[in-house]
Amino acid sequence: MNRIVVTGAAGQVGSEMVEALRDRYGRDAVLATDIREPGDPGEFGPFRPLDVTNPHAVAEVVRSHAADCVYHLAAILSARGESAPQQAWAVNMGGLYNVLEVARREGCSVFTPSSIAAFGPSTPADPTPQDTIQRPNTVYGVTKVAGELLSDYYHERFGVDARGVRYPGLISYLTPPGGGTTDFAVEIYYEAVAHGRYTCFLGPETQLDMMYMPDAIRGSIELMEVDPESLHHRNAFNMTAMQVTPESLAAAIREHIPEFTIEYDVDPVRQAIADSWPRRIDDSAARDEWGWKPEYDLAAMTADMIAHLRARR
Ligand code: NAD
Ligand code: SER
Repeated sequence: MNRIVVTGAAGQVGSEMVEALRDRYGRDAVLATDIREPGDPGEFGPFRPLDVTNPHAVAEVVRSHAADCVYHLAAILSARGESAPQQAWAVNMGGLYNVLEVARREGCSVFTPSSIAAFGPSTPADPTPQDTIQRPNTVYGVTKVAGELLSDYYHERFGVDARGVRYPGLISYLTPPGGGTTDFAVEIYYEAVAHGRYTCFLGPETQLDMMYMPDAIRGSIELMEVDPESLHHRNAFNMTAMQVTPESLAAAIREHIPEFTIEYDVDPVRQAIADSWPRRIDDSAARDEWGWKPEYDLAAMTADMIAHLRARR
């Protein structure tokens, strides 16, 4: 695997995934694509505009790059999806279908992230097993469950080497998040460093799984490189690093910024989404099948986030 197309490359995950893949496989081996231009196209490296809902454009980009692997990251996330459900379905399902079809024809492997949003209110919330009830009540969650199943189908029916994880909320400092329910866990660090205070749109004790971006990127590449013989759950590995609440994040931040204060102005839409998701997922299948292990806990992540955000000021 050394010719890679990344979709959604200008996003929170994509911007860091592209960097990591280029470090590993070479700058020109990794073609970044997105429907919007990345922040600084001149410095971003090889980039082509691509709308993943256009099957001909997806096929042309994969063929012209002679790609043998697609990291498919283009998506509409949970909160944005609830304000535009039709668009969320078109991008998340249409885009994945187009990528899997090209992968089938061109012999590519495919990495597609699912999410803790693939679970719903009837799922056991703590711990959430690897294989369990999945009845999400957001359009984003519905597309994630369907995407897991479609990816499994393309593997079983057509032999496409499709793999994926259920990311928890991802925390990072390079590119802001794109409209998810877990965005508070990123915003809190930006606001703590910039203003010493944050108004949170989720309630103080809302507990969700989270992970620092370097772990998410490393784990995703490790999954794509592991011997497929060891994989049973190919497209939907639960993956987590820590469980946080707004209050525990605030306490970790106060270790570095003692004067930091947090207030609450709960958004009922995003609170309802968060309340429908797990409080703690069980990622033992990922640990057993491909050796997943996070490096960052809450304290280590907080120290690194604050150091990087301070350095940028
Ligand atoms: P993001 O919103 O930051 O980035 C998504 C990118 O997709 C954006 O740059 C956007 O311009 C692009 N895009 C939207 N519509 C497109 C289209 N029609 N064609 C091409 N590109 C299009 O999202 P992200 O956080 O980088 O998420 C990447 C993947 O990881 C998604 O599948 C998401 O569901 C998954 N995920 C993310 C998180 C998280 O916390 N960030 C958690 C769980 C799963
Ligand atoms: N971080 C994502 C969201 O909140 C979870 O998939 O939408």
